Amino acid sequence: MKRELKVQPIKDGTVIDHITAGQALNVLKILEIKPGTKEVVSVVMNVRSGKMGKKDIVKVENRELKPEEVDKIALIAPNATINIIRDYEVVEKHKVFLPTEIEGVIRCANPSCISNTNEPVRSKFQVVESGAGGEGEEVRSRLRFRCAYCERMMDLDDVMEQL
Ligand code: CTP
Ligand code: ZN
Repeated sequence: MKRELKVQPIKDGTVIDHITAGQALNVLKILEIKPGTKEVVSVVMNVRSGKMGKKDIVKVENRELKPEEVDKIALIAPNATINIIRDYEVVEKHKVFLPTEIEGVIRCANPSCISNTNEPVRSKFQVVESGAGGEGEEVRSRLRFRCAYCERMMDLDDVMEQL
């Protein structure tokens, strides 16, 4: 008997797999899945994963993600894979991508930054990874974002506050 299965396969929708352990609730926040939601969602936290030690998984039925949502997930779960499911089959699988420069995804925390004025300037940040540490779980504490205009440094907690 197979005793591994924690959540059933879904028919149609998106499975966000290999989420950094502990980040599933932040993924729900990015997807704007809140109390009162009518969406069919399964959340698995801290399950064992060969590659990563532990991971979280979020399955959202009958929904495919917008590119902006995927870009935000990359910030908090840089190893996540997005699986698109149609009629029970994985028809697309891709890893999220954390670029070295992010444009337009987050806002600068400095209220007087030019990217927060009425000027037609899109926010732009350099992604700064500091310190040693492996993949996955350590990433959260290592990632910083430097505003390309005012040099304000933001960490993931600052980013999560605005998501
Ligand atoms: N999945 C699902 N419903 C389906 C098909 C797949 O919920 N109808 C889930 C699986 O449980 C898994 C993820 O989608 O969490 C990816 O499925 P699959 O590619 O079959 O799994 P793996 O090969 O283990 O994926 P990877 O190589 O990315 O680890
Ligand atoms: Zn700025």
